Amino acid sequence: MTGLILGAVVLLSAGYAKLSSMILNRLLAVTLPTWANKILEIIQLLSMPAYGVTLLIALYSRNAGFGGLNWQTITSGELALILAGAIGFGFLVHSTIAFQSYRPPLCEIANDSRIIDFRTSGTKRVSDEVTPPDDWHTALVGPGPRRKIALLPGNQQFSLEVSTKTYSLPRLPKAWDGLSIVQLADTHFRGAVTRKYFELVCEQARGLKPDLFVFSGDLFDDMELLDWLQPTLGQLKAPLGQYFILGNHDWYLDPNVVRQEYERDGWIDLSSRCIELHTSNSAPPIVIAGDETPWMGKHPDLSHVSPETFRILLSHTPDNVYWARKQKYDLMLAGHTHGGQIRLPLLGPVYAPSRYGCRFTSGVFWLDPTLLYVSRGISGREPIRYNCVPELTKLVLRSGQSSSIL
Ligand SMILES: [Fe+2]
Repeated sequence: MTGLILGAVVLLSAGYAKLSSMILNRLLAVTLPTWANKILEIIQLLSMPAYGVTLLIALYSRNAGFGGLNWQTITSGELALILAGAIGFGFLVHSTIAFQSYRPPLCEIANDSRIIDFRTSGTKRVSDEVTPPDDWHTALVGPGPRRKIALLPGNQQFSLEVSTKTYSLPRLPKAWDGLSIVQLADTHFRGAVTRKYFELVCEQARGLKPDLFVFSGDLFDDMELLDWLQPTLGQLKAPLGQYFILGNHDWYLDPNVVRQEYERDGWIDLSSRCIELHTSNSAPPIVIAGDETPWMGKHPDLSHVSPETFRILLSHTPDNVYWARKQKYDLMLAGHTHGGQIRLPLLGPVYAPSRYGCRFTSGVFWLDPTLLYVSRGISGREPIRYNCVPELTKLVLRSGQSSSIL
């Protein structure tokens, strides 16, 4: 009996952890100031052990041990705790099944990926294109309170998955067949991960030679590091241009100054607007738009765009996807959720600041007529990654027809 009760308390505690993290994820999806987010995170973190201990003490004291649990003596408060844990456990089972059964949609027709570990040196080099630093401990990890986190064993923060993924999108005009976009997301310059790491990432991005670069927000967490932009993203140039939007972490700082810095380095601000892209011939233009809501600006206005025009949306949060569907966007590129940064074995990600919880934490989703691509991003506020390697992705779009001009 005792073992059964203890086992049940463990499962109910796991359920509570799931339920409380689901609530936290949804609270973090709205526009709260950083201090409020921090308080909510601390409350949720402390509430998890508190739940288990409270339940244990309550059941033990009421039954003078676990040997003879009497359900008739359970109070309504204890019942509420048990119910919360049981409901959360149901969600935990559901999200585990969803995570394990995730497959990319059929329109993903090719995926060529490799993982580079920038810490690797000498004979362990995995790529001829990468020259690893002699001493990665000093070259890649900065000083400060987060250095210890960055140096945790098994931390994947200093690796990078470089992918080229090809998607068939029937509405893409034939003349744009082969259009390639490199998406970068969520660098979160803060100092614990050094500029050198981001320079190595951008070196890889340059090597992908896309038709356009996009950055989907959260460049900074420290305004002192504004001058990192020029030697990193500032080095990226593409024939059709470089486009950015800001994220909530840029919003916490000084968005206007961040925008000026981007523009000085040749990046085009897509905030709340939509612009046409043209090829060198008489092919129909396509449009690319930017959405920084709910933190800044408004949804871009597409009322002047013809219904036939192929549409790409850059949105910091994937939460805008249902709005994007209504606007008939063909492709939406998002970041913000970082893949959860830590993915538990079997269970998958736990934390993702989204009103849809961990549903769009990362990956590609077909929500007719919109293909949503959510990047795991490159770094995060905390320099920690487990089962969630930083990501740099080139998306190649195929119209399903031949005759490429790009
Ligand atoms: Fe972010």
